[in-house]
Amino acid sequence: MQGRLRVEPHPEAVAAVVAEQLLTALRQRARLGLATGRTMEPVYAALRERLQQLPAPQRRALLEGWRSFNLDEYVGLGPADPASFAAFMQQQLGGPLALEPGALQLPDGRAADPDAEALRYAAALAAAGGIDLQLLGLGSNGHVGFNEPPCSALAACRCLQLSQATREQNAAAFGGDPAAVPERAITLGMSEILAARRLLLVVTGAAKAQILRRALLEPPCAQVPASWLQQHPQLEVVADQAAAAALSH
Ligand code: GLP
Repeated sequence: MQGRLRVEPHPEAVAAVVAEQLLTALRQRARLGLATGRTMEPVYAALRERLQQLPAPQRRALLEGWRSFNLDEYVGLGPADPASFAAFMQQQLGGPLALEPGALQLPDGRAADPDAEALRYAAALAAAGGIDLQLLGLGSNGHVGFNEPPCSALAACRCLQLSQATREQNAAAFGGDPAAVPERAITLGMSEILAARRLLLVVTGAAKAQILRRALLEPPCAQVPASWLQQHPQLEVVADQAAAAALSH
């Protein structure tokens, strides 16, 4: 891995480090690539806290320039559905920070033609100038965004079938029933992710230790989509001790 690895004692310390980086990026008017998932909840809480502590004019200046693109969305779900990623982002950041409509961009899960929506979203991202800082979580099966294995480093933004493993991993948001998790999603591809100027991979918890080891220490391969991140010259990984436990042996 050519990037940097930073290990913190616990998820709250990870969140503090990541929130500081996001705040710095906002000060630099960076376009953010944002992620969902439980790993991001303490990160967004720490970011909200820091923003809310700023004097109002400073905070307003930062928030007015906010323009972010999320990684993914479930096909069939819109912002009114509490399990959608649009709702998650609104609950975590949009509402509490009173962001302007349109500040948080996501693929439209309700689009009549999801394949066309994936193309539209990729074009909108390209037209905006791409992503400066891409925040990433890690799926238990090695996915990033919803790039399910096997996945090439060249895969572009698209609509795809979710794996059974992912539907099980994300079932909690759907009353614990994997069958209730949508079968398809729209995701930025590895190619758009790898095109971001900087990548920030955030991984916490012992359950991710083995997949993080494979992602960072094994030769990049399609079976572990996150392993393609090793090829990015500006990759930073922030992990807690539990997630980093398998990296040293
Ligand atoms: C989800 C998202 C990913 C996220 C990952 C990890 O399915 N599509 O972007 O990083 O899975 O989720 P969690 O943080 O809840 O473990």
